[in-house]
Amino acid sequence: MQGKFIVVEGLEGAGKSSVIQLLLNRVKKAGYKCITTREPGGTPMAEAIRECVKHPWQEHVAQETELMLMYAARRQLLVNTIFPALDNNVWVIGDRHNLSSLAYQGGGRQIDEHIMRTLSEITLKDFTPDLTLYLDVDPQTGLERARGRGELDRIEQAGLAFFERTRARYIELAGNDESIITINAMQPIDQVHQDVMSSLNRFLECQ
Ligand SMILES: Nc1ncnc2c1ncn2[C@@H]1O[C@H](COP(=O)(O)OP(=O)(O)OP(=O)(O)O)[C@@H](O)[C@H]1O
Ligand SMILES: [Mg+2]
Repeated sequence: MQGKFIVVEGLEGAGKSSVIQLLLNRVKKAGYKCITTREPGGTPMAEAIRECVKHPWQEHVAQETELMLMYAARRQLLVNTIFPALDNNVWVIGDRHNLSSLAYQGGGRQIDEHIMRTLSEITLKDFTPDLTLYLDVDPQTGLERARGRGELDRIEQAGLAFFERTRARYIELAGNDESIITINAMQPIDQVHQDVMSSLNRFLECQ
């Protein structure tokens, strides 16, 4: 038996972290073993790549460099953590996955679609999540929430226009994929959590 891979996506401050705890508890209550991962990161090497990507370097970081680091971290996580877990019938809940790259690097940084597709193919082959919950928030609201948590990292410091493009690409991709469910994350947190639970319960009923 294979475990299921559920991904939570959205801009900074969308509320992914609390939603992931909610999902983890519900999946465990349904009787499945379940782990959580985050991207970039989730293995010792991938966490080192995360530090590297987020560091406020005193030099220009080429967008291709950032892009390839993200995919390198993703490959490490897949091979060393996600694939072995799923093969052992363990469910995985991911804080971000490929949709983040498609939205941030493809939409936000406007990297060529052909490059995005090629890197996705090398990294993922035909692997896709079973369910993605996209928490939709406008950048101003999201960044205000994230700012409340402390200093912004290098990527969070990108301008509002960057996040507007990222959000637009998220919405576009979610609209074209039945396995991605959009949740209005600008609602009060209790309502967001209620919507998340309904989506997860529907998914669990199909297993
Ligand atoms: N719907 C909501 N309404 C108001 N505040 C919220 C809501 N959802 C989350 N928050 C608060 O916003 C802050 C950021 O949320 P959280 O850390 O879960 O976001 P995130 O999506 O995990 O961000 P990041 O991508 O930076 O990890 C937290 O303090 C959280 O309690
Ligand atoms: Mg988080």
